[in-house]
Amino acid sequence: MKLPSILNLMTDDLAVDLGTSRTRVFARGRGIVVNEPSLLAYDAPSREVVAVGLEALELEGRASEDIQIISPLQDGVVADSTYAGKLLEHYIRKARDRRSSISRRVLISIAADATDIEHYALRYAAKEASVGNVHFINKGLVTILGSGVAPEDQRATMVVDIGAGTTTIAAMVHNHLIFTRTLRVGGNDMDIALINMIKQNHNLLVGPRTAERVKNRTRLRRSARPGTDHHGQGTQHHRRQSRNGRRQQHRNPRSS
Ligand SMILES: Nc1ncnc2c1ncn2[C@@H]1O[C@H](COP(=O)(O)OP(=O)(O)OP(=O)(O)O)[C@@H](O)[C@H]1O
Ligand SMILES: [Mg+2]
Repeated sequence: MKLPSILNLMTDDLAVDLGTSRTRVFARGRGIVVNEPSLLAYDAPSREVVAVGLEALELEGRASEDIQIISPLQDGVVADSTYAGKLLEHYIRKARDRRSSISRRVLISIAADATDIEHYALRYAAKEASVGNVHFINKGLVTILGSGVAPEDQRATMVVDIGAGTTTIAAMVHNHLIFTRTLRVGGNDMDIALINMIKQNHNLLVGPRTAERVKNRTRLRRSARPGTDHHGQGTQHHRRQSRNGRRQQHRNPRSS
């Protein structure tokens, strides 16, 4: 057996999307092997991690006061390197199949305009997770490729990915990424806006999980209305008339 194939048996190549709300890990040849909440529960006095991901989510509202449940990522950025490292370590271990105990290369998606500090925080987190070689990939490119756009497509394509903490906009034409931007705003901000609106209009206090459920259900209800496709995605777009500045509404012909 040649050396590379022995290496392939003992190590693996992973790609990680460390998202504000969910972490996904892709393993070469096996597809997405982890898709879990980016949550971690730790015991405050000892700072020991007690649960990660789904198990941490299940502890919400049930654990003792000493247990803190946190997301080490805020607005798509590592807010706590130590716990982000522990989260990454847990998911990388989970993603490794029984044969491999080393990850030769790990690819991590990161915003194109990420600061040096953000790069450092992710590298630190990966180091905590005992990863040999860390490579970064532009989140915009991942957004385009993940949406199924063929790189060689002659048409210009723009994709908008609204995550929990960030919104990534990317445009590609004929193998060239012509535009990419990550805004630090996403679904979590919609949840906060809903909490504030419900408080203001109904004098009711709801938590972020309830607000998220309301938001997600609202989307489903809208899907039953004409003008939206069966995935509930709006198929209308607006543009300002160039001459008088008035807004025009357009329906995507493919949706009717
Ligand atoms: N049916 C739905 N309707 C509206 N929003 C939804 C629906 N399902 C999930 N979401 C929202 O999508 C967001 C999660 O998206 P995603 O998993 O892509 O985020 P992420 O990758 O963890 O975050 P980021 O990329 O910003 O770091 C959450 O805010 C969630 O409430
Ligand atoms: Mg994301």
